[in-house]
Amino acid sequence: MEHPESDPKAPSDNTDDASSEQHGSEREPVAADNSDEHNAESSDERNGDHDRRIRSFVRRAGRLTPAQSKALEDLLPRFGVPETPAQISSQSLFGDNRPLVLEIGFGNGDALVWMAQQQADHGFVGLEVHRPGVGHVLRAIETAELNNVRVLETDAVEFLKHRIAPNSLAGLRIYFPDPWHKKRHNKRRLVQSQFLAMAVERLQVGGVIHMATDWEHYAEQMMEVCGQHPELVNVVAPGAYAERPDWRPVTRFEQRGRRLGHGVWDLLFRREQN
Ligand SMILES: C[S@@+](CC[C@H](N)C(=O)[O-])C[C@H]1O[C@@H](n2cnc3c(N)ncnc32)[C@H](O)[C@@H]1O
Repeated sequence: MEHPESDPKAPSDNTDDASSEQHGSEREPVAADNSDEHNAESSDERNGDHDRRIRSFVRRAGRLTPAQSKALEDLLPRFGVPETPAQISSQSLFGDNRPLVLEIGFGNGDALVWMAQQQADHGFVGLEVHRPGVGHVLRAIETAELNNVRVLETDAVEFLKHRIAPNSLAGLRIYFPDPWHKKRHNKRRLVQSQFLAMAVERLQVGGVIHMATDWEHYAEQMMEVCGQHPELVNVVAPGAYAERPDWRPVTRFEQRGRRLGHGVWDLLFRREQN
């Protein structure tokens, strides 16, 4: 059993069928209880309007370590994206016009911190709904003495919609989004045409969307929706997957997939002028 602090996805007692299946087939679903998490999917399905849309995650309470709690309290004011309705920019977050890169679903944030170290002249924004992961990354940002990363515990779909201006991102990175591999859960996948249309609009012309997954069916879905978008061009060749580029480290979730013998598919698409 790994240390819970380094595992933002450590199994919890109140997980449900949906939340346990999203991270692959290695973990058997456990009996559901009466928690909000258990009711998340049926509630999503009952309420079709966009306020109660089907989400790409199930919010679980998660266990915060004392160090993570302290990091959230002490470091969020320094390294958090301000929780205002205002749209963000490099200028507002970092005080200059550096290229802005967004990572969605950073997990424990180790990859985010690594990328920010490698590309010190870029500004990174990381979004994650899992609170312990946010606590974990805040500590790592402080330890690495990074000034080019900001993070927020939030639903990235809402954040993209309301807080990212069109044509503002130099890069969007989505590494190992929850695969939701059962057919009846496929509708929960983050990367679908509607989401992609909104994301592409927020990329600058020339900006790159980089995704990776260890679930082949999801990789095919990503390739299909990206391939159909009129403003996206596959950086490698039409229909081709990419080699893992230098800027992406092997992520924590990827390591787990490797242990289970999963393959990995990287996709790189650039926004071009329509
Ligand atoms: C399978 S994990 C991968 C984590 C990490 N990228 C890695 O490769 O180790 C997917 C992550 O996406 C997060 N997530 C799912 N939907 C999200 C959303 N709408 N907004 C922000 N984070 C989300 C989950 O909480 C989870 O931590």
